[in-house]
Amino acid sequence: MTSVEIREFVKDNGNVLTNQQMAIACGEPRTRISSAISKCKLSGDIKLFGWLKSEQPTKANVKKGLKRIFDKVDAIGKNQARESMAMGVATSGVGGMILSLPSYTCAIEKLILDYTRSSTNNLFTFFGVERKELAHKEMLATADRLGIEFEGTSKKDILYTIERAKENDLAHVLLDLCGQVHKHEQDIALTINNDIIKVGGLFCITLVRRLACGNGTKFREKIESIIPYDNNLFDSQGNRVTQIDQVILNFIKIESKGKFELVEEPFRYCDPTINDEGKKVVGSKMILIMLKRVK
Ligand SMILES: C[S@@+](CC[C@H](N)C(=O)[O-])C[C@H]1O[C@@H](n2cnc3c(N)ncnc32)[C@H](O)[C@@H]1O
Repeated sequence: MTSVEIREFVKDNGNVLTNQQMAIACGEPRTRISSAISKCKLSGDIKLFGWLKSEQPTKANVKKGLKRIFDKVDAIGKNQARESMAMGVATSGVGGMILSLPSYTCAIEKLILDYTRSSTNNLFTFFGVERKELAHKEMLATADRLGIEFEGTSKKDILYTIERAKENDLAHVLLDLCGQVHKHEQDIALTINNDIIKVGGLFCITLVRRLACGNGTKFREKIESIIPYDNNLFDSQGNRVTQIDQVILNFIKIESKGKFELVEEPFRYCDPTINDEGKKVVGSKMILIMLKRVK
């Protein structure tokens, strides 16, 4: 990679990945990554993280701060996100049908089965949705191989199934989406407002931490007129909550109308992706939000 390309990569990923992880993702030595980080810091391309209160950081406290965020935020983290969802479902005490987007991996569904294997009851049935023809075919093949039995599947957009689900039809809904929040406005709003999840059931949503709809768009205005962006909001671990994360979380909070609560702190991770050379590299920044229906 050229120095400019590395610098661009560091700019995009420097706040969630360690030097080592960026080196692996770029296929470059750590020295080149470190040098790009120094340049980004000098030019202000990498911002100070929330807990580094000083505007004039010393080398030592920047290093300490970086180490802390890198220790906390998993590099790829996708598996951790899957495990959290599966464990949440397995230990929820609420059985019944799970509506999900298993894709060709059926990874979360397999984990749920693994976590509940010792149970004598047949706790869960699965309804798998996948709108892409090939992925749907592969989803069925994987499920067959892994011993996952679908009660039903659909090749339509998930909104079709959500709209037709009746009150309390579902034990859990796992929307492991790849998209931006405003594109899934209806999926999320209807799942909550139509009460299709039983009380105690989980509603897990993964979204990309990117928003193509900028300031002033209808979606943003709707949310920010109710809960304005707070420049000084920190999560329980001391990380500043970005504007995009606030748009996502506030949208969900507004739609929840007190019926759903966060089960745990939203989890930030990166999706893996395959580059043009077929290599697995770090992809988009994502957020997992795990909610529970409380009333
Ligand atoms: C992030 S992947 C799911 C990954 C899988 N749960 C796992 O753990 O590996 C999302 C899948 O859902 C499909 N998908 C995304 N949005 C959808 C929608 N609105 N309706 C139906 N399928 C959708 C995509 O084609 C993709 O295969």
